[in-house]
Amino acid sequence: MISATCVAPVNIALIKYWGKRHEDLILPVNDSISMTLSTDELCAKTTVTASESFETNRMWLNGEEVPFEGSPRLQRCLKEVHRLAVANGSQKVPPSWKIHIASVNNFPTAAGLASSAAGYACLVYSLSRLYDIPLNEELTTVARQGSGSACRSLYGGFVQWHRGALDDGSDSVAKQIAPSSHWPNMHVLILVVNDERKKTASTKGMQQAVKTSQLIKHRVDKVVPERITQLREAIANHDFQTFAEITMKDSNQFHAIALDTFPPCVYMNDVSHRIVSFIHDYNEIMGGYHAAYTFDAGPNACLYVLEENVPHLLDAIQKVFPSDSFDSDTYLRGLSVPKVDKSHKIDPAQRNKIDSLDIIAKNAFRYIIHTKVGEGPRELSADNSLLINGLPLEKEK
Ligand code: DP6
Repeated sequence: MISATCVAPVNIALIKYWGKRHEDLILPVNDSISMTLSTDELCAKTTVTASESFETNRMWLNGEEVPFEGSPRLQRCLKEVHRLAVANGSQKVPPSWKIHIASVNNFPTAAGLASSAAGYACLVYSLSRLYDIPLNEELTTVARQGSGSACRSLYGGFVQWHRGALDDGSDSVAKQIAPSSHWPNMHVLILVVNDERKKTASTKGMQQAVKTSQLIKHRVDKVVPERITQLREAIANHDFQTFAEITMKDSNQFHAIALDTFPPCVYMNDVSHRIVSFIHDYNEIMGGYHAAYTFDAGPNACLYVLEENVPHLLDAIQKVFPSDSFDSDTYLRGLSVPKVDKSHKIDPAQRNKIDSLDIIAKNAFRYIIHTKVGEGPRELSADNSLLINGLPLEKEK
């Protein structure tokens, strides 16, 4: 019996992937760029075990067994891993051995927090450790076939998924643009508006968009290629102003396309829209972009903000979205809030303007997660295994 246990990060797109040109191979209609978040706050953790004695492939997700044979994406990933093992001459696991997989997320599944990206990246990375396959661009094509955005979670820092042009998808790969050390003070606040499952899954929503939206063509042909070039340059130059503007505009355009889909897909809710208008007001008071919002296929906001600006932004958030739980341990999760550095004290006029902002909504968020740019997946030692003798910990007793 041999095993591997790994963790893999969540990534949040700055330029969104939305729409496929091939459903089964998961080939996108446009390039996308994301930032990988630290696994200290949000991650998927997976153990894969292979054994001669296992009769079938089995999988447990967050402790519950899920039908392995019923998931074509899961099977495709495993098939591709077997193919790569043969191509790499790896003989670590005999091809006839079945595998057991256990995976857990430390954040709500399907809440629009990119759980499928971390989950599939973790599965594919764990399998690559088990079968002794190197992490390279080809491995990203395997993760891509689990869930498109998963290919970007195989690398840390800033990552571009290239749409590729070939029919077999071999050039539709993720590549790192810059490691996390390039912009280490890039922090993120996730305002968790709603923990519940989203209404229209991304897969279905983007399928409908490609079929019915007239705006998506303009996005794919014109808007995204320009933004990719500009955002790559902004990242290279640590240019937060351009970074913020592109990120917010691209989130808005993605949701405009969701609304242009027929019937429309509505992912943001009233609180999400209030966050958008608050961030614009806040940036105006600050005289430049101090925070940028982005929303995936759900109502939660992901705010990009430089570390030194986190305390002021959080103060302002608590001012306009006051929470009765602000002082509780479970409201503000993740990294502790840095102390205000003297050089980053805001001037009294700005302070007054923020203090005079009206309350927008009370108790609007369940909690806030404070995290930052992070590294790609990594293997953990055997004592972190989620499987004992091939069964999930609690099932084994
Ligand atoms: C809005 O990767 O979840 O988060 O490939 O069908 O599994 P499938 O979709 P998925 O879509 C993610 C969409 C998004 C934008 C993004 O992450 O780029």
